[in-house]
Order: sequence, then C-alpha cells, then structure tokens
Amino acid sequence: MSVQSLRPPRQPASKVVYAPSSALSHIPGDDGWPIVGHTLSLLADPKGFVEQRAQRLGPVYRARAFGHPNVSLLGPEGNELVLLDSQKLISSALGWGVILDRLFPRGLMLLDFDEHRLHRRALSVAFKSGPMQSYLSELNAGIAKGLAQWPRGREFKFYPAIKRLTLDLAATSFLGEQLGPQLEAVKQAFIDMVAASVAVVRTPLPGTRMGRGVRGRALIVDYFNRQIPIRRERGGEDLFSQLCRATWDDGSLLSNADIADHMSFLMMAAHDTLTSSLTSFVYRLAASPDWQEKVREEQRGLGLARDEPLPFERLDTLVNTEMAFKEAMRMTPPVPSIPRRAVRDFEFMGYRIPAGTGVNVNPLYTHYMPQLWPEPDRYDPTRFTVDASRSRHKFAFVPFGGGPHMCLGLNFAYMQAKCFTWHFLNNFRVSVPRDYQPRWRMWPIPQPRDGLPVSLAAA
Ligand code: HEM
Repeated sequence: MSVQSLRPPRQPASKVVYAPSSALSHIPGDDGWPIVGHTLSLLADPKGFVEQRAQRLGPVYRARAFGHPNVSLLGPEGNELVLLDSQKLISSALGWGVILDRLFPRGLMLLDFDEHRLHRRALSVAFKSGPMQSYLSELNAGIAKGLAQWPRGREFKFYPAIKRLTLDLAATSFLGEQLGPQLEAVKQAFIDMVAASVAVVRTPLPGTRMGRGVRGRALIVDYFNRQIPIRRERGGEDLFSQLCRATWDDGSLLSNADIADHMSFLMMAAHDTLTSSLTSFVYRLAASPDWQEKVREEQRGLGLARDEPLPFERLDTLVNTEMAFKEAMRMTPPVPSIPRRAVRDFEFMGYRIPAGTGVNVNPLYTHYMPQLWPEPDRYDPTRFTVDASRSRHKFAFVPFGGGPHMCLGLNFAYMQAKCFTWHFLNNFRVSVPRDYQPRWRMWPIPQPRDGLPVSLAAA
C-alpha cells in the first residue's frame, strides 16, 4: 500500500537541536549582546536592522535573536531555496514551533514533508470553488452589516475597527451558524491564544498572557469537540463543517484532535494577516487618491447596484483592485520574516549551513530590493501588470511564501480583500492628511501604532 493511501500516523516533532554559534563561525556576523543577542535591535526596527546587516555583511549573515543563533538568507534566491526546499532539507515545524507550538500545535505550518503533504491535501477540499462561493456570500453579508455601523464625516481609527470586523467575519465564514451566547467566549478565547503566542513569558502562569492563552485553547478545543458530531450530522457550508466532512485518501474522517488543531490554526493564520493587509491597503488608497478613484471606477464598471453583493464570478475581473492590494502587501508584508530550521547540512552562496541552524528568509527585505523594485518606497500598483510580473524572479514577491507551505488561504485572502473593497469604496471616500505616515510596529505582524486615523466621507 502506498503511503498516500494511509491515514498518516501522528509523527513526533523532529529532535534536531539548534546549531550553536561555534558551528556558524565561518558565516559573517556575531552574537550581539550577552543574553539578548540582537533581539532588541531587531524588534525596534526589523527593516533597518536587516538592511544594515545586509549592507555590511552581505546576503548571508548570522545574528542571535529570541535565544538562538540563526542565519538569514536574503533575496529571491534565498527565498526560493528555503521555501521550495525541493530536497527536504529545512523544517517549517521547527522554525515556527518556537512561537506557535504550545497554542497552535500541529497546524499545517507545524508539520513537515510527507505528513504535511497528506494533511494539506485533506484540508484543501475546504478551499475549492464550491465552498469558496459560500464563504463569499457570508463575507458579503457580514461586511455590509459591519460597514453600516462605521461613521461618516469624522475621523475614525481604522485598525481596531477592521480587526473587530475580520474576527466577526471569521466567526461566520469559518465557524458558521449563529454561535449565540458562545460567540463572545469563543472570540475572546481565540484573541487570548493569538496574544499568548508572542508572549515573552512562556510559562502559563495565572494572570499571564500565556496563562490566558492556554485557558483559551482549552475552551476552543472543548467547543470544537462538542460541535464536531453535530456538524457531521447536520452539514453546513462553513469552513469548520467542511473540515468535519474532510477525509484522508482512504476515505476515513479526520480525527477530532486534527480538526481542532487545524481549525484553530486556520483562524490564527487568517485573522491577523487579513487585518494587517487590509489596514495597509486602506492606508495606501487613502494616501493615493488617484488609485482610490481607479479602483472605484473599476468597481463601477461591473454595472452592479452599490448595495448588491459582489458575485463570485466577477472576482477575476477586478484587476486594478488586485494590483493595488498586491502593492500594499509588497510595501507592508503581513509576514515580514519566515523562520525555518535546517534538518540536514546544505550550502548556499558558498556557505555551509549545518543541520540544526535556525534559518530565515525575509519578504520585507526582498520587497524593497531596488534591483527588483525600482524606487521601492513609491506606491505603484502597475508593478503588478502581467508584463511587469513576468520578467521578475518568481520569488521576488512572497507575501504568501512559496513552495509546499505557500499560504493555503491565498485565494480566500484575495477574495476577502476584493469583497471588503467593493463594499468599502461603494460607501466611503477615505483620506489621510497629506503629510501623514503611519508608524508601523512590524513584529510579529505589522500594525499601525496609532490605529491609523482616517477620515471617512460618503462616497
Ligand atoms: C493577506 C493575508 C494572508 C497572508 C499575507 C498570509 C501569509 C502566509 C504566509 C507567508 C504563509 C507561509 C508561511 C511559511 O511558509 O512558513 C502562510 C501559510 C498559511 N496560511 Fe496564510 N496568509 C494570509 C491569509 C490566510 C488566510 C485567509 C488563511 C485561511 C483561510 C490562511 C491560511 C494559511 C495556512 C493554513 C497556511 C499554512 C500552509 C502550509 O503550511 O501548508 N492564510 N500564509
């Protein structure tokens, strides 16, 4: 029997330990300050830190952050080698596990190689065209309802509002049904889990973020366990119900534990990334009135009434909207850096990278390389015309990663961005003062420190 036809056994996490600094001394760089290494400089200015080191040390350098030495492989060639990983040299589970293991264990990014491939195939049923159409109808309804409460004619903090809206949308398109009195508890538990995943104190002591996160996970797992038999019997088109019906290649259903792990991970993977990307997108539209008008014109060209839902069949025609969204993600990628750990020795640009090395690639750095993106600080969506994109390195634009772990929700993300833009620009003209620039806190996921105050006027 081939491995594909089996239900995959739960595999223990690989035991490859971190390579010590002494094993990396042939790679340019240093260990930084005692104990903290380079963590503080990296947190203070992730873009500046990487650019300065690249300039001084070259595209392959070592640093020490978050307790471990690691090597950065910068630029599209590094992205391709690490993300594509055609020789199975590099673990995603060991890279992300340091941050996500306790609260989001065994999500797709925390699985590797053959086991990952089987899980990914089982989950992909939830992202086919049929289910996507039904998520879009939930998104249309939820966005229209949410925006009806946003104020016209006064300043408004965009970031907290879109964060709330994205969570409400996830509750309906991911979890479906009216959650009733459980809704607020499930949403809060989920917020606590996400906050805890980047907490400094990693022990779940009472009163700490990690303590709240671990309690939140217990509540959510309990909720999923109670709901799975109900969803299997009653059906439903939301993402959770799709996973309850998803099967391995031999036709057997996913276990409750697998469904709970994948569902919590999917909600986490979708929530902050969508919040961040829609925030930077709206900022760019507010700061570029010509592009805002171009996107609105494109929408009007659909010939639909303003309050009609955006139909699934028209998504592909919103070409300018997509280019404008991509350019916002180029400038502010929601996942600025992607961690991995080598499980076998390999070589890159003449440097030997030993097994156990923490390795990372950097979409943020790549997206500002002037040789790939002339005048990288200028917002210019025409960089994404078909012609312009064709001549560029395939791993020059990597907001969704690439290779076997490439974002499974990529089409969902474009769909939600287009649906949001449809309702938003039909209702509002958005602006910021001419000299305004948000100050982004880039780690772990970019967010504007001031909440992005914008002015909303009736469209
Ligand atoms: C603009 C929004 C989004 C961005 C920028 C984004 C970005 C990414 C990136 C960079 C990765 C790959 C990380 C790596 O290689 O280590 C990834 C993986 C993933 N994303 Fe997204 N994501 C977005 C939205 C979503 C949504 C809406 C969903 C679900 C509905 C989703 C589900 C996932 C999943 C399941 C993975 C893991 C795939 C795997 O390991 O096979 N993401 N995402």
